[in-house]
Parts: sequence; structure tokens; C-alpha cells
Amino acid sequence: MTAPQPLIAGNWKMNGLSDSLTEAEAIAEGAAQAKARVAICPPALLIPEMSRRLAGSKVAVGGQDAHWEDAGAHTGDISAPMLADAGARMVILGHSERRSGHCETDHVVADKVRASLRAGLEPIVCVGESLEERKSGRALAVVTGQVRGSLPAELAGHAFAVAYEPCWAIGTGLTPTTAEIEEMHRAIRATLVEMFGATAEDVPILYGGSVKPSNAAEILHAAEVGGALVGGASLKARDFLAIVQAA
Ligand code: 13P
Repeated sequence: MTAPQPLIAGNWKMNGLSDSLTEAEAIAEGAAQAKARVAICPPALLIPEMSRRLAGSKVAVGGQDAHWEDAGAHTGDISAPMLADAGARMVILGHSERRSGHCETDHVVADKVRASLRAGLEPIVCVGESLEERKSGRALAVVTGQVRGSLPAELAGHAFAVAYEPCWAIGTGLTPTTAEIEEMHRAIRATLVEMFGATAEDVPILYGGSVKPSNAAEILHAAEVGGALVGGASLKARDFLAIVQAA
């Protein structure tokens, strides 16, 4: 059996104005021969134009969040059908910055996953422990609990990815050891297989948190690592492409 293609996704977070679209074009140009699947998740306002410019390229465009309802009275929110209509093919859900900054629970994330499936989007569902949870030895229990709570049964048979992003590694330059990443990814894999059966062996489990050109190869070749979710280093084509090439 051939291993599934790794996925390298860039999460631009709340960074980027319209002049950043040239950076996305440079990424698409540099990634044309990449072995990995590649995606950029820019701020929502850039999705329509980025999708237009990257059409036909190797790089998919994704959203960073979606509401759990398809439409309605939710001022300021963006729905999954709107993302799909704008050209997105994927969506990051349950990022720790949304769990902590916008009080998103596993239950809310699971509803958002259902909405993304209705819209035909591939969800990238984020999980990860806080520093306090790691220090107190609860990291595995917390993260596998998030996997159980955030991934609804409706995902069976659909394309999706899980991203393990320890909160304390995001934007800090700190990373877990390779052994710690492998231990967590194995635990996530076992949980997925318990929930969805043997087909879950092929679900990509991405690592995220201070991935950069200098550590990408080691992380991407660790056991059960099926790609990366990259924040800061995805904003510059040169750095992001170096990570893409390391896969
Ligand atoms: P950094 O790569 O900037 O640490 O961010 C990781 C992240 O949160 C990606 O979703």
C-alpha cells in the first residue's frame, strides 16, 4: 500500500493584505512539482482572489474557521457554503486560538465540522494541550479527548485531517521532541482507528507549532506525521517552500 501524500498547509491567521497575493503566486509557482499536497489558508477576504489566481495550480485554498450554521442571523460570521462559494476547498476548524480566544468547545467544533462536510469542504481539525496540561502529565488524555469530542461520526468516508498543535509551541519557537510528537501522533491514530475503523489509518495527522525550514525534515519524517500546519513560516514563499520540499 502506498503511503498517502503528506499535506503541508499554511495558516496565515490574521496576516496579509491584497499585496500578499503575489506571495501566494510565488508559492504556487515553487510548489508546482511538490510531492506533498499544499494549501494556503489566508484571511477570508483574500480567498476569492487567491482562489482565482491559484486556479489550476497545485495549491488549494482554505478558510480558517466557519460557522456551524449554513446561513442566518450571525453578524460578522462566515459560513462553510460561503467559503466553498469563494473557492475554498478546505477549512481549519478548532484552532487553539479560536478555542481559547472565542470559547470554542469540542461540541462547537464538531458542529462546525458537520457544516464543512455539508459544504463539501475538507476539514483540518486542530487539537492540542496547554503547557500546564503537558507539565501535569495530562497531554495525551486531553488531546485524545479533544479528538473524540471534536470529530463527529459523520466524518466517516470523508476526506479530513487532524492537526496536533501543542498550544505552547505555537509562535514560540519551542517544539516538542520528536519522541513526544510521535507518542502523541500514535495516540491520535489509535483513537481515530477506534472511532472510524481501519480507513482512519490514511487520515493525515499534521503537526503544527513553530515548524520552520530548519526543523521541517525531522518533524515531517517522524512516525505518524502526515504533514504540517504552518503559521509564521507560511507567510514567506521561500520559507514555506523549503518546508514543502522537506516533505
Ligand atoms: P506557528 O507556525 O507560527 O507556530 O503557528 C502554528 C499554528 O498555529 C498553525 O495553525
